[in-house]
Amino acid sequence: MVTGASSGIGEATAHRLAREPWAKLVLVARREDRLQQLAESLPAEATWVATDLTEDDAPERVRAHVEDTHGRLTLLVNNAGAAWRANFADGGYANVRRHMEVNFDAVVRLSESLLPLLRASAPSAVVNVASTAGRVARGGSGAYSASKFALAGWSDALFAEERPNGVHVGLVLPGFIATEGFPQEELTDRWMTRWAVSTPEKGAEAVFEAGVGRRPERYVPRPYGLAAAARVVLPRLTRRVMAGGSAKTMTTRTAAMDQDDR
Ligand SMILES: NC(=O)c1ccc[n+]([C@@H]2O[C@H](COP(=O)([O-])OP(=O)(O)OC[C@H]3O[C@@H](n4cnc5c(N)ncnc54)[C@H](OP(=O)(O)O)[C@@H]3O)[C@@H](O)[C@H]2O)c1
Repeated sequence: MVTGASSGIGEATAHRLAREPWAKLVLVARREDRLQQLAESLPAEATWVATDLTEDDAPERVRAHVEDTHGRLTLLVNNAGAAWRANFADGGYANVRRHMEVNFDAVVRLSESLLPLLRASAPSAVVNVASTAGRVARGGSGAYSASKFALAGWSDALFAEERPNGVHVGLVLPGFIATEGFPQEELTDRWMTRWAVSTPEKGAEAVFEAGVGRRPERYVPRPYGLAAAARVVLPRLTRRVMAGGSAKTMTTRTAAMDQDDR
């Protein structure tokens, strides 16, 4: 199962998994037209559940679909997520809450509902797609970072708890990857910074390694792991470097997302 399969890293992950001869996929996101189109284009059997994962009944609907369709689950990729840039003084608790709802609470609630099935299907795996921002925070993304720090911490604990049950828990921490929700135009527009932006396909390969390859943790691109290490061993320098990124204004993309709430 891949959540957030209607675009970006999730869509690329669905393509990557569908290349495996054993793959039978369940795709989850809100935009049903996208999920249907993707399912029909994949070289593997694929069904979908169109749902907003923050809704109360979403975990139960997804669990019922998997149980009815397959009766087992060997890989859960918790990839769906979103970001709305704002300094805390502007976005306040409301912005923290909406990040937590989609990037953390929804992941925890879906995992809770599917864990019995994952245990019964072991060896199985969960991959949580957090972010390098879940290890290193910048101004302007505090709410996003809070949700991804929470996801990373919870994933580390779940790894230890589920190991004896044969459920591997892998963590993927992307840096900058150009996608619909995270276009990274500030970086891709300038040749000096374009190199720092990776592709959804590289993200998908990291998800594959963390899930099927049972890697505990994978930064993508890999050098972003150095930022996380620097945060621990060079806290003063890291803070000084990261202090350049405050959100003075909301990006066009974020404003658009605010309008239609996606
Ligand atoms: N791209 C980056 O630079 C980057 C960096 C670090 C971490 N990440 C993480 O990588 C993951 C994938 O992001 P992406 O870059 O691929 O962005 P994306 O292209 O915007 O994809 C986000 C996916 O999540 C789904 N989604 C969002 N809210 C949802 C909800 N309430 N219920 C169900 N599905 C929902 C979206 O589908 P619908 O709109 O159809 O629901 C979409 O399929 C996210 O967790 C993100 O935080 C990305």
